Amino acid sequence: MNSQQRTTDPIMNLSLFEAPRQIENQYSPDADLVLYHGVVQEFVATIPDNTVSLIITSPPYNLGKDYEDRVSIKAYLDTQAEVIAQLYRVLKEDGSICWQVGNFVEDGEVYPLDILYYDIFKKLGLFLRNRIIWHFEHGLHASKRFSGRYETILWFTKSDEYIFNLDAVRVPSKYPGKRHFKGPNKGKPSGNPLGKNPSDIWQVVAQDWEAEIWDIPNVKANHPEKTIHPCQYPVELVERCVLALTDEGDWIFDPYAGVGTSLIASVMYNRRAMGCEKEAEYVDIARGRLHSFFSGTLPLRPLGKPVYVPTGKEKVAQIPDEWKDVGPNRLLEKKRRYK
Ligand SMILES: C[S@@+](CC[C@H](N)C(=O)[O-])C[C@H]1O[C@@H](n2cnc3c(N)ncnc32)[C@H](O)[C@@H]1O
Repeated sequence: MNSQQRTTDPIMNLSLFEAPRQIENQYSPDADLVLYHGVVQEFVATIPDNTVSLIITSPPYNLGKDYEDRVSIKAYLDTQAEVIAQLYRVLKEDGSICWQVGNFVEDGEVYPLDILYYDIFKKLGLFLRNRIIWHFEHGLHASKRFSGRYETILWFTKSDEYIFNLDAVRVPSKYPGKRHFKGPNKGKPSGNPLGKNPSDIWQVVAQDWEAEIWDIPNVKANHPEKTIHPCQYPVELVERCVLALTDEGDWIFDPYAGVGTSLIASVMYNRRAMGCEKEAEYVDIARGRLHSFFSGTLPLRPLGKPVYVPTGKEKVAQIPDEWKDVGPNRLLEKKRRYK
């Protein structure tokens, strides 16, 4: 499926990007797509106050990845606080910030970054609207604690007047056939024909696919969007924020743009987009992905596509004979026999 097909939706009246856009390498008021190679501290200084409707990003987590020097957690947060103060300046009064983070881990101890970031945003006077849980099935297997299978998105607004287009992101109701059983609407459908609010947990328990629609896997080896970036987030995670929190023509800004995921999700829905990234290699990939998007050849995981649910019959789903008497497998085998 190409990008053009996935966004056409006559009910929601979503329009597609109208034409491939020129990618500028610095901000100007006339630009509508900007990809800056350099650090956010330099780039943000070129943006006027009150310009951007949505800042959405996954910042470096201070984990010592290829693109970052690991520093003390205090030094890391001090640097981020300076950047966030600048981001606040460029955010419009009715704008939002979506800050997607996981954990920083040191000597086996876990530091949940969203908790540590919370005060930075609150000191600036922002309002938390949701702490969204992004659950995924795959990741590292821990041996001295439970394996981590979620990260969070802190959604803050600058004021009480903010954009929230709920209808653009509703998901199918579990029981659309439910009707009012008394009162003036007796007998009429009680739900919303556009579906229900997708809630603040963006996940699906695999077998409960019918109940919720937005299962968003993380970008691992077999994900169609995977590039060489070690911490890429999926386009569909950003799409939902773009649709719900901005209108067409608004500016969306990713200060830690990586391989351009936020920019792709923004241009897809006719928003203006800017991003900056300090690593030249990622900037090149981001530019390439944008060009592929405009030509309809960018591999994308279709929005709302169900995560593959094993039937249990696959060879890899079978318990090896030599493990049948071990640990929880014993119980499983017993249950199977009594079924
Ligand atoms: C977690 S990754 C973001 C990945 C991105 N969400 C994507 O899907 O490609 C963080 C990125 O921030 C970049 N970065 C780190 N410090 C930066 C800075 N001061 N200015 C700009 N980019 C920076 C890193 O090189 C890295 O690509």
